[in-house]
Amino acid sequence: MSITFEPLTELHFPLLLKWLEAPHVKSWWSRDVKWTPELIWEKYGDYVKGYKRFKLQEQMIEKPMHAYIISMDQKPIGYIQYYSAHDFPHEQGYETSDLPQSCAALDWYIGEPEFTGKGIGSKALEICLKLHVFKHFDHVFVDPDTANTFALRAYEKAGFKTIKKVNNGKITWMLRTC
Ligand SMILES: CC(C)(COP(=O)(O)OP(=O)(O)OC[C@H]1O[C@@H](n2cnc3c(N)ncnc32)[C@H](O)[C@@H]1OP(=O)(O)O)[C@@H](O)C(=O)NCCC(=O)NCCS
Repeated sequence: MSITFEPLTELHFPLLLKWLEAPHVKSWWSRDVKWTPELIWEKYGDYVKGYKRFKLQEQMIEKPMHAYIISMDQKPIGYIQYYSAHDFPHEQGYETSDLPQSCAALDWYIGEPEFTGKGIGSKALEICLKLHVFKHFDHVFVDPDTANTFALRAYEKAGFKTIKKVNNGKITWMLRTC
């Protein structure tokens, strides 16, 4: 089994649309968004160029965003993105300034349902950490929904440890050190 990572390009956008609307991904990712080709362009167009743009106190800011398509034996099966945990205001609104200084955050999914639950995701995660994330950061942070038992299990298998539960236990913070 060969797992590889290809930088995201516009050619992957139809795949992102399909995957983000797949029920097993939608249960945990942007649940309330109805994805369209236009929305995909709006959100991921800048990621292709390597940054994410957002507004902070009336100012537009750009920070690095590393986005990759995960392939297995050359078939695209999922998506992973990583960035500095300190660069973006967190979607859940919580404070993460206590995380180590050199700390990535990441989000990912295996978009093709028949490739989930077979150990491929946790393997892909480990390879991505080694090949990419730990070349730039000493730690990596994730914050799955506590109810997302498959994700928690995949993170554990990839060496993450729970450090805290927040939002009344609904979110689990996990950290892995290089
Ligand atoms: C989370 C995710 C990326 C993990 O990838 P994966 O290839 O399914 O992960 P693994 O197979 O390595 O590990 C999943 C664990 O959950 C278990 N599991 C049981 N039923 C499962 C199912 N229907 N789907 C997935 N995992 C299942 C697996 O058996 C495995 O545990 P085990 O090795 O102890 O048996 C993938 O399931 C996914 O894309 N989920 C939807 C999106 C998501 O939740 N992303 C993460 C947001 S934090």
